[in-house]
Amino acid sequence: MMRFKRTDLYTLPLLVYIIYHLKKSMAFTSCGISILTVNYVKQCPEDSKSWQMAAKRMDCDGIEQDCQQGIRADSHQFVFQYHCVINVWRNATLEVCAFNRTLLGYCAEFNILGSVIQDNYYADCTKHDPPCPSVYNSAEAYKYQSCYKLVEQNERNTKIISAAKRTSGNLTTPFISIFFRFIIRKLLHI
Ligand SMILES: *[C@@H]1O[C@H](CO)[C@@H](O)[C@H](O)[C@H]1NC(C)=O
Ligand SMILES: *[C@@H]1O[C@H](CO)[C@@H](O)[C@H](O)[C@H]1NC(C)=O
Repeated sequence: MMRFKRTDLYTLPLLVYIIYHLKKSMAFTSCGISILTVNYVKQCPEDSKSWQMAAKRMDCDGIEQDCQQGIRADSHQFVFQYHCVINVWRNATLEVCAFNRTLLGYCAEFNILGSVIQDNYYADCTKHDPPCPSVYNSAEAYKYQSCYKLVEQNERNTKIISAAKRTSGNLTTPFISIFFRFIIRKLLHI
């Protein structure tokens, strides 16, 4: 006779839940035409209202795409729609019409090579303040503004590094010339 342990009662629904979300998050939602809609922006919408306005302006519904067939099995789940997300390197924000998908606790990125919205595995937003949920719809990326902030941080870091390079460049040149003048003087005994 089969005997169930008490824990099995909890593991089964948990497994079903995990498989359900994994299936959604691993679905093949790439669509080539998305690349043609990419629009780099300084800022993404901050709330649902500005998100809806941006979505209206971009009019993803009006774009003819023939990718829906490819993901027909789950077509009610994947909608070709407005996204405002970071890029793979987390140094730019962009608007794009793409199929939404389930993300698993990472910032949403648009991957140009794959022409697909996906998790950016370098940006675990469950660790951000405030954190994102461990399962969320990529079409609601505006709710997790900390992901856009990564781009600002990246910009700041790049600026600091290039400023540091400039300063050290300005410092080393006179330093080296003074040093060589010193050596030459020593050699020539002047
Ligand atoms: C972002 O980073 C990549 C890789 O380092 C670089 O090639 C690209 O020019 C950067 N883009 C911006 C907007 O800084
Ligand atoms: C995609 O967005 C639609 C609403 O536009 C939503 O009903 C659906 O659940 C989302 N799909 C995923 C995989 O999150």
